[in-house]
Amino acid sequence: MDTSAEIKLQEQYIKKVKKINVNKDLKYTILTMGCQLNENDSEKLCGMLEKMGYIRTDNQKEADIAVFNTCCVRENAEDKLFGKLGELKRLKEEKGIIIAIGGCMMQEKHITDKIKQSYPFVDILFGTHTLHKFPEDLHKVLEEKRKLEDIIDIEGKIYEGLPIKRDSNIKASVTIMNGCNNFCSYCIVPYVRGRERSRQPRNIINEVKDLAKQGYKEITLLGQNVNSYLRVEREKNILFEEYEGVNSFATLLTAINKIDGIERIRFISPHPKDFTDDVIDAIATCDKVCKLVHLPLQSGNTKVLKEMNRKYTKEQYLELVEKMKAKIPNLTLSTDIIVGFPGETDEEFEDTLDVVRKVGFEQVYMFIYSRRVGTPGDKMENQIPEDIKHKRFDKLKALVESQIEENNQKYVGTIQKVLVEGESKNNKQMLTGRTDSNKVVIFEGNKELINQVIKLKIVSEHMWYLKGAIYEG
Ligand code: SAH
Ligand code: SF4
Ligand code: F3S
Repeated sequence: MDTSAEIKLQEQYIKKVKKINVNKDLKYTILTMGCQLNENDSEKLCGMLEKMGYIRTDNQKEADIAVFNTCCVRENAEDKLFGKLGELKRLKEEKGIIIAIGGCMMQEKHITDKIKQSYPFVDILFGTHTLHKFPEDLHKVLEEKRKLEDIIDIEGKIYEGLPIKRDSNIKASVTIMNGCNNFCSYCIVPYVRGRERSRQPRNIINEVKDLAKQGYKEITLLGQNVNSYLRVEREKNILFEEYEGVNSFATLLTAINKIDGIERIRFISPHPKDFTDDVIDAIATCDKVCKLVHLPLQSGNTKVLKEMNRKYTKEQYLELVEKMKAKIPNLTLSTDIIVGFPGETDEEFEDTLDVVRKVGFEQVYMFIYSRRVGTPGDKMENQIPEDIKHKRFDKLKALVESQIEENNQKYVGTIQKVLVEGESKNNKQMLTGRTDSNKVVIFEGNKELINQVIKLKIVSEHMWYLKGAIYEG
């Protein structure tokens, strides 16, 4: 069945489930782990659930259905899921709550085996390639009262036109491609998300235009490797239709930059090895594209990078940063770093610290290497002992925090453009927003400013946020 026929079929199932649920006042709860791609998938699950007559609740006890969208990029997510399932067992026994688990972890056989064996009360297991079939799966459980496993291991397709219920009405995520072909040796993502495939330019442009009409101001383009958007299609001569001049990531940025109403464009994550000059030029010339670029480093040592299969050296990474800084005024950078990859010596780890010192990142997401079943990294013999990994992590964290403190001071006295996102969570008298470089700024102001880009003068800095005052200049 082609993908649009499949979606039409699911629309029928949505109607059938809605009919079963009519006048029942049913609620759902959803827990999302992992990256923004998963969050975007969860927004689609919420869209389907709401069309089927469920209303969202954060109180698990009053829910009729509990959905988990799982991640397996690091080990700690597994503990979290199994803890939650333990809690839900009672609700299953007491009121027969329907439990559905989906997402990346479900593409791992040892995990689904464990669930079937130790948590047999789970109703639906679905994977990353069958998310769109959730209405059909739920219908089967409701009608036939049987447990269901709907997981397939395939290259993956793109499904357009799923309902969506977004978390914010100011900022929206738009997935532009799925899957990953890079096979970094530590990473499970290519095995659970399938091969790289890009959405048609027309579908992305129309989605963003529609978001602009709805009043959204900020768009984040998502993919595991956004700067290889349409690359596989070009290389393998897979048919795609050029639309508004879009045939690459750079031209996509340029086309979205022209859409009225959208004020900010972000994207995650690009891969340093694919950061071509046309993308650098597009970031420099498109006024709406934020000048914060997330550029995952992973390690600063050339030998470790080779073992990681990252396909760049320490020097190439630093040269890329220099080129970008030269071409993009006011560029800021954030990154991801893994410490304790198999075989990493103290000296090799020092190279990571060296790159951090040299680049001066705005934000660093730090991870302790976690063995993932099925990846080459897991089979490497020279695994690093936990205590050494933790020592390195602490050393990196101390360096990063001192850099952030120093960097924050540079903001004081400057004028920043801030997209106002709402009331501050900790202090309802204050509003909160973010700078182009994604720093949180809190300030006093009228609620009418929400969803506008305004100018603030930064008056003080704190570790994780800045304080600002409205600037009437
Ligand atoms: N595609 C994105 C990242 C996906 S996963 C990219 O390439 O940037 C997000 C981050 O998790 C990675 O950048 C990496 O730093 C971290 N990560 C992935 N696998 C990991 C593992 N096995 N152990 C620890 N961190 C890991
Ligand atoms: Fe994982 Fe590497 Fe793909 Fe990112 S680029 S998802 S780190 S394999
Ligand atoms: Fe996790 Fe899957 Fe994202 S493994 S990081 S949720 S792609």
